[in-house]
Amino acid sequence: MSLIIVDKNKCKADGICTKVCPIEILKMDADKQMPAAIENAEEMCINCGHCVCVCPHAALSLAKMPVKDLSELPADWRIPEDKLITFLKGRRSIRQYKNKEVFKEDIEKLIDIARYAPTGLNKQPVRWTVVYAKDHTRKLVELVVAWMRKLIDLKSPMAESLRMDLTIAMWQQGKDRICRGAPHVILGHGLKEDMIAPQSTTIAFTYLELAAVSMGLGPCWAGYVNMAVNSSEEVRNFLGLSSRSACFGAMLLGFSKYEYKRIPLRNNPKIKWR
Ligand SMILES: Cc1cc2nc3c(=O)[nH]c(=O)nc-3n(C[C@H](O)[C@H](O)[C@H](O)COP(=O)(O)O)c2cc1C
Repeated sequence: MSLIIVDKNKCKADGICTKVCPIEILKMDADKQMPAAIENAEEMCINCGHCVCVCPHAALSLAKMPVKDLSELPADWRIPEDKLITFLKGRRSIRQYKNKEVFKEDIEKLIDIARYAPTGLNKQPVRWTVVYAKDHTRKLVELVVAWMRKLIDLKSPMAESLRMDLTIAMWQQGKDRICRGAPHVILGHGLKEDMIAPQSTTIAFTYLELAAVSMGLGPCWAGYVNMAVNSSEEVRNFLGLSSRSACFGAMLLGFSKYEYKRIPLRNNPKIKWR
């Protein structure tokens, strides 16, 4: 099967599909009548779908992405700028949670949305693990605390600079500064040597975080959990992560106990114009 299928009755030979292809594997054929794939295009195509999505006439399909399967974008799909700015500035990291679970379907919805974040070469490298059950989240915190204790015993400079002793002292007093009492933790991971996975995971989590806020949920990045997954065999085993993979992001999820009423101040941006 060829890489692209062009509907001759619909194609207007405007060449837009050839112009947006990031790998430049589509060219107009000799008589400039129709787009065609260059030699070896199948191996080079990254299946980003731009050629299919941009065609104003729905004339082109990729073998793996028939145009009839794609959702049409409504004309008003963009979020008005003022609404989006307030939304982005109004998002907060949540650290006080209600004793209420998020539906699994909603977590699946968030992960589904995160698939649409940009990924290097459209590799879509992020793999997800969800610690869903509350007692599993608690066990995870216990394992992170045990890892912190080990680091303190080893006189690790990181343990000192992050004041892990205080986090442990809090835990002993019944305060969870690691997962903040959130019911769920979502982890994003990939192969250790995958150069594209770390940034792609961060961006995917940013999509997930914003989508979570729009769904009325309370997310918070979980830096301690992320570090512990990558440094503690016990934590890694508990999560069933292979030694070939690394955690590139972790996020707490639940319902916020409190509503924020204002936008905080932030440092002025430091910009150099050249
Ligand atoms: C990579 C990363 C790791 C973070 N880890 C934690 C964490 O372990 N615990 C926590 O309470 N907040 C964590 N945060 C949240 C930051 O503390 C928070 O973004 C910052 O204080 C600004 O607050 P805001 O997100 O409400 O604007 C993390 C944020 C990032 C980006």
